[in-house]
Amino acid sequence: MIDLDGLTPFAEGGNRKCFIHPDNPDRCLKVIHPGLLKKIRNNKPWYKRFRSLESFDDNLREEEAYNQKALRSNNPKIWKHLAKWYGKTETSLGIASETELIKNDNQIAETLESYLFKNGLTDEIKDSIENFHHWLRNNLVLTKNLIPHNLVLKKENNSLNIKIIDGLGSQAFIPFPSYSNFFAKRYVERRIELMWNRINWDLSGRKGNWK
Ligand SMILES: Nc1ncnc2c1ncn2[C@@H]1O[C@H](COP(=O)(O)OP(=O)(O)O)[C@@H](O)[C@H]1O
Ligand SMILES: [Mg+2]
Repeated sequence: MIDLDGLTPFAEGGNRKCFIHPDNPDRCLKVIHPGLLKKIRNNKPWYKRFRSLESFDDNLREEEAYNQKALRSNNPKIWKHLAKWYGKTETSLGIASETELIKNDNQIAETLESYLFKNGLTDEIKDSIENFHHWLRNNLVLTKNLIPHNLVLKKENNSLNIKIIDGLGSQAFIPFPSYSNFFAKRYVERRIELMWNRINWDLSGRKGNWK
C-alpha cells in the first residue's frame, strides 16, 4: 500500500486530490476527496432511486472508461491525446487511479484553461485543438464534456499536444462494449461542438449558460 499521509497534492479538482506518485515521479495518484461519497449518501437520499453510490465514484467510472471499445485497439496512436492508465492502486487515502503524469521539462503540464486565460485563442492553440478534434473523430473515443481544465498541454515537436487527464467516458449511460459507430460519430460531434462552446464561454467572461 502506498502511504500518502502528510504529502501535499499538486492539484485538486472538484472530486479528487492529485498526488505525484511517491515512488515514480512520472505517475499521478488520484484519490476521491475523503468524505465525498459519504456526503452524497447522507445528503442526497434521492440517489438511491436511480443511481447506486458507486456510480458517483470517479475512479470506478474512469476505469470503465479506459476499457471502452476505441481504446482496445492495438494502434499506438490511440494514446496520443490521452494520459496512460495504470490501474487502481491502494493508498492510505483509499483506492487511487494511477495514471501518467503529464509534464514538460520536469514541470507539471499546464491546463488548456490556464493557457487560454493567459494567451487567448492563438493560432498555435487553434492548431492543437483542430488536431485533437481530428483524433476524436478518427478514433471515436467517448468522453464526457471536454472542459479546458480537464485537458493539459504537452510540448511535442514544437507544438502543444492536448492530453485528456479527466473526463474520459460518456455523458449519458452508454453500454461501452456495444455502441455503434453511427451513434458514436454523432456523440463525438456533439462533444466537439460543446468544447468550442465552453472555450468561447470561458474566453468571453462566462456569461449565461455555456451550453
Ligand atoms: N495526469 C495529469 N497530468 C498533469 N496534470 C494533471 C493530471 N491529472 C490531473 N492534473 C491536474 O489536476 C487537476 C485536477 O485533476 P482531475 O483529474 O481533473 O480531478 P477531478 O476528478 O477532481 O476533476 C487538473 O485540472 C490538472 O490541472
Ligand atoms: Mg477534473
